[in-house]
Amino acid sequence: MSARHFLSLMDCSPTELVSLIRRAMELKDLRNRGVLFEPLKNRVLGMIFEKASTRTRLSFEAGMIQFGGQAIFLSPRDTQLGRGEPIADAAKVMSRMLDAVMIRTFAHDTLTEFAANSRVPVINGLSDDLHPCQLLADMQTYLEHRGSIAGKTVVWIGDGNNMCNSYIEAAIQFDFQLRVACPEGYEPSARLLAEAGERVQIIRDPRQAVVGAHLVTTDVWASMGQEDEAQERMKLFKPYQVDRALLDMADESVLFLHCLPAHRGEEISEDLLDDPRSAAWDQAENRLHAQKALLEFLVEASHHHV
Ligand code: CP
Ligand code: NVA
Repeated sequence: MSARHFLSLMDCSPTELVSLIRRAMELKDLRNRGVLFEPLKNRVLGMIFEKASTRTRLSFEAGMIQFGGQAIFLSPRDTQLGRGEPIADAAKVMSRMLDAVMIRTFAHDTLTEFAANSRVPVINGLSDDLHPCQLLADMQTYLEHRGSIAGKTVVWIGDGNNMCNSYIEAAIQFDFQLRVACPEGYEPSARLLAEAGERVQIIRDPRQAVVGAHLVTTDVWASMGQEDEAQERMKLFKPYQVDRALLDMADESVLFLHCLPAHRGEEISEDLLDDPRSAAWDQAENRLHAQKALLEFLVEASHHHV
């Protein structure tokens, strides 16, 4: 079907991504100045959450309300999705009533199957494989704090998870070098590593990886759905904790980001989010602005005025 989707950063061109981030900064400024701007009046976003969320739900919901529209929270527990209604059928029906659908799911295939059967834009609000909306906020935050990320060195520390995979796509789209410091057996997607080629390097030792780094970022050691492995992972990932001393070894302009929620004492030291090099709170706020830019881009394009 013809709608434009955002399941991965690769669904946009590098130029479109840069425009989205510029637009996010404009929308942030409008909101800071208290300007009422309602381009999505009467528009409705459906949000399917198979996993928990604070930021993603709030930012999409608040964003739609600020834009003059509405968002509807749908849990598989209360919809027929949880009782086995096929994704394709749900997509056909939901997309006849909604103007866009955001989905947070386990299997990435759920998103691709929904999108293949949807008349309206589908947005990935996190899957086991990718978290592209978070990367829009991360790229906006780096730009606001340090300027263009093109040509810079970014270091991912910890698990080669959904966030790490999206950082690989960001390295390709935003033109930076990425180093991944992860334990053996916890590498990001082999397909994405192959696609990125020389742009992404695996460096096992975090202290070696951060030398010259302009951006350092990490995430939880056990993602949603990996609760059973948490104990084992805690031991294995111990050498991958990011603390102030590790940031001291990076470039002096280094910025630290964390998509949150954070586990202090695990992937970051207790005090790291209070360090002046951390921009994690701005990063969280930017989810709102970046996704408003995304909604405007995807949904407003399909507006018909009479
Ligand atoms: N970073 C992020 O996606 O947070 P939530 O899980 O709270 O949505
Ligand atoms: N990797 C984490 C990110 C949470 C926003 C997870 O998937 O649980």
